[in-house]
Amino acid sequence: MLLPNIDPTKTEAWKQLAEHYNLTKETQMGSLFSDGATRAVDFSIVWNDFLVDYSKNRIDQKTIQLLLQLAEEVNIKDAIGKYFGGHEINQTEGRAVLHTALRAKASDTVMVDGENVVLEVNKVKEQIKAFTDSVISGERKGHTGKPFTDVVNIGIGGSDLGPAMVTEALKFYKNHLNIHFVSNVDGDHVQEVLRDLDPETTLFVIVSKTFTTQETLSNANTIKKWFLESASEKDIATHFAAVSTNADKISEFGISATNVFPMWDWVGGRFSLWSAVGISIALAVGFENFNALLKGANEMDEHFKNEDNDKNIPVVLALLSIWYNNFHGAETEVVIPYTQYLSRFSAYLQQGIMESNGKSVDRNGNRVDYQTGSIVWGEPGTNAQHAFFQLIHQGTKLIPATFIGFKRSLYGNTDHHNKLMANFFAQTEALMNGKSAEEVKTELEEKNMSKEDVQKLLPFKVFEGNNPTNTILIDRLTPASLGSLISLFEHKIFVEGIIWNIFSYDQWGVELGKKLAGQTLKDIEGAEISQHDGSTTQLLESFKS
Ligand code: F6P
Repeated sequence: MLLPNIDPTKTEAWKQLAEHYNLTKETQMGSLFSDGATRAVDFSIVWNDFLVDYSKNRIDQKTIQLLLQLAEEVNIKDAIGKYFGGHEINQTEGRAVLHTALRAKASDTVMVDGENVVLEVNKVKEQIKAFTDSVISGERKGHTGKPFTDVVNIGIGGSDLGPAMVTEALKFYKNHLNIHFVSNVDGDHVQEVLRDLDPETTLFVIVSKTFTTQETLSNANTIKKWFLESASEKDIATHFAAVSTNADKISEFGISATNVFPMWDWVGGRFSLWSAVGISIALAVGFENFNALLKGANEMDEHFKNEDNDKNIPVVLALLSIWYNNFHGAETEVVIPYTQYLSRFSAYLQQGIMESNGKSVDRNGNRVDYQTGSIVWGEPGTNAQHAFFQLIHQGTKLIPATFIGFKRSLYGNTDHHNKLMANFFAQTEALMNGKSAEEVKTELEEKNMSKEDVQKLLPFKVFEGNNPTNTILIDRLTPASLGSLISLFEHKIFVEGIIWNIFSYDQWGVELGKKLAGQTLKDIEGAEISQHDGSTTQLLESFKS
């Protein structure tokens, strides 16, 4: 069964939202707080150890009611049922979208082509557990009998960003293994990583759903060559593992069948960290923690699947993004985690969000005449404050922000954590309230500045405020809370895609790039340069000279 296929702009809710936007666009959030004593509670969702406060947004009850109506008019509940139910909602590739099955409870049933895929998922999880336990304990050894000390994950896109982000995020829970990531087809980076490694104690995990990705195969071959400088062909079986759907290509590479972890075509690369793609996570933090990550994600899945729309975190956050993207004309949104552990979070989200919803053709095959996928970016606070916050506070663009913070730090350094979180709370408040001309005037006069100087300086020190933020406050950064957080964003992507009436789970735009680079490589390596525009020809000639 296909997804509902509804042009959002033709819905009654969309028309009313457009009118509502015109009537409310000048409203100041500060005044909404003064008028509504229960606003903070009304526009918050408490779930497990998450408090999601979305009250600092340019919304009132009517906005939320209309956004929820929009979700109903596009049949969001029906779409969610098809997503979890294993229907082929990735229609352009003829596939189901079932990363949720990877973290389903062991006793759940998810049917694909007449088979309960959870049984297969459980089997692979056992395989991951056995493999990672034996590497961590030192029982599994390198070819000279030494235990492994280092692991290199070789993959790109979804075969890199998720594992790299989570491994960094869960550093606190890490064991003795050092995990490295090689993704870019940049030989200098490969050498930088290899430089510090001992081939006798390093395990290599090649992660590629297709096992045809140029970057990954080039890096894997370079690394294999380096490894063979001090080992023999038969040792590849001990030092290399692979995760892929492409069994033939893996065996051509020389990897032993016992070190091969399967994947399925119903798992998209950018949603695959929950599968064996996440093996470097399980190696870094142990299988129990990896499993806790999956459990946290599953809890968010259940919330998303079962909760009413008005208390459903991914639904509400997606609707707010639509409100700014499609009615306020916001071009980007920023995500600021107040923990250094989440330093790779926005890079990870960029693939998830922009590869999924960067589409301009609707599910009928027609070009859309409304904005789709938002551009997401960010850096951890407080670093971000000292980098680009100036533009959010006083620039000309509207940039809705999501702040993610934790009540408790992991090492328990209260002094630092209080300072970190004081910034977290102060920023969302300042973004909303700004600083009026009156306040600036008083402040400058208190510094005994002359009237003339006050007038000169005043316009530059005014903050208009009214900048919207969501705040996600979580108890602690644990494998489970991280799993829930990632799952939240995955489902937010889904809801936005449904509303925009686009296919979120293909990535034809990236496939084009792969082909183009292939031809250009022939031009670089061959004698002749084929037909290009003048600029490209000039650049290629200069490169080859
Ligand atoms: O970037 C395009 C893409 O197809 C992603 O969707 C995927 O995560 C990445 O390439 C890597 O693909 P593979 O795992 O097949 O090497």
